[in-house]
Amino acid sequence: MDRYAVVGNPVAHSRSPEIHAAFARQTGQHLVYDKLLAPLDDFVGTVDRFFDAGGCGLNVTLPFKEEAFAWVGEHDEFAGAAGAVNTIARAARGFRGYNTDGVGLVRDLEVNLANPLAGRRILVLGAGGAVRGVLGPLLGRAPAEIVVSNRTEGRAAALVDRFEDPRLRAAVWERLGDGFDVVINGTSAGTTRRSLAITPEVVRAAFVYDMAYGDAATSFLQWARASGAARTSDGLGMLVEQAAEAFRLWRGVRPDSVAVLTALRSGG
Ligand code: ATR
Repeated sequence: MDRYAVVGNPVAHSRSPEIHAAFARQTGQHLVYDKLLAPLDDFVGTVDRFFDAGGCGLNVTLPFKEEAFAWVGEHDEFAGAAGAVNTIARAARGFRGYNTDGVGLVRDLEVNLANPLAGRRILVLGAGGAVRGVLGPLLGRAPAEIVVSNRTEGRAAALVDRFEDPRLRAAVWERLGDGFDVVINGTSAGTTRRSLAITPEVVRAAFVYDMAYGDAATSFLQWARASGAARTSDGLGMLVEQAAEAFRLWRGVRPDSVAVLTALRSGG
């Protein structure tokens, strides 16, 4: 049986195995997909052993996406722009790394949530690994501008500089302004139950999206609604869509991601 896994630390909470199992059932593909806990100081050894034992592909989650980028021999343009890999596949020679996070986010926003990005003013909160992976695909959807803001200002400025795109600029956390069409939270504040120190006008009348899902997204989205957001969504759709893109890269068939997302949302 072809073997796949998600490697991370921690990884116990990952919903990727149930998502890929659903994709496999749906498309009639025979595979197993496990969770692989790598010691914080032995990502490389863990991945080497997985592939030496015949593994076919890996998803990579926190905190190893940058190490995965360094491990693969070649990568796609999104992984290159992000300096981070979330999907590893066997290539003709060696291994190829991909970053499907941004494609997943864009597909969830534009297709599942019917929220086109062309011509929009987008605010992205955060400048860590999660945000790095999505800026390239967001820019690819022809927004009017993307403003990146981070509590630690220098990180946002450094990230924006990497892309050298006139539509992309960094803004100071304390003076974000208003008038954004879409606000995307890519910080990890929610996972540690911290709130973001931003003012309500930032999200007023905006479509507010949290890249986290479940409990980690709840309080930010509640705050956004109370602050006058037009619409809100958590990132469960992004998770399913990045997985669908990984599945397509590995298996050559695109699963029906909407059916799986609907089942997950209804607790199935
Ligand atoms: P990830 O890979 O999940 O993005 P990361 O690289 O550690 O993880 O980045 C976490 C992001 O969440 C950073 O942008 C961080 O801001 P700082 O660079 O200032 O640390 C942001 N973040 C975490 N907790 C936050 C909080 N309470 N308020 C604002 N931003 C926060």
